[in-house]
Amino acid sequence: MKKLLSVLILGFVLLTLQLPKPALAQEALSGSQIFSNSCAACHINGNNVVVANKTLKKEALIKYLKGYEEDGQGAIINQVTKGKNAMPAFKNRLTHEEIKSVAAYVYKQSEKGWQN
Ligand code: HEC
Repeated sequence: MKKLLSVLILGFVLLTLQLPKPALAQEALSGSQIFSNSCAACHINGNNVVVANKTLKKEALIKYLKGYEEDGQGAIINQVTKGKNAMPAFKNRLTHEEIKSVAAYVYKQSEKGWQN
């Protein structure tokens, strides 16, 4: 009886270990959530607390971000992936999908003037 019980427990433990990670942890974050988590510390409301004039507003992006006028989202993806000066690169911190979705969010906000 005792043996049966331990076999059952062992089986249960092994089963639990093999179950896929909870879906919740894998669920994709939205662009705005990624922005809050990874960007807002330096870019709250589309500003730049480190280099004041290099904001995420359209005028600044046109002026400072290479390629923004040809392909806004692509230019943002590029900067986020590789970083620039005091801005860290995110290629090892976010997946490419996450970078794409945060870039889409930033692009949309810059077009809207960062009004909520
Ligand atoms: C540690 C602070 C910091 C974090 C975190 C950060 N940035 Fe930046 N970001 C900067 C700085 C500093 C610059 C200006 C870089 C330069 O050109 O010297 C910048 C510039 C930019 C630019 C170009 C703006 C311009 O006017 O030239 C974009 C787009 C941008 N960041 C997007 C993001 C996104 C999206 C995230 C989050 C994934 C992020 N940044 C996270 C500091 C940060």
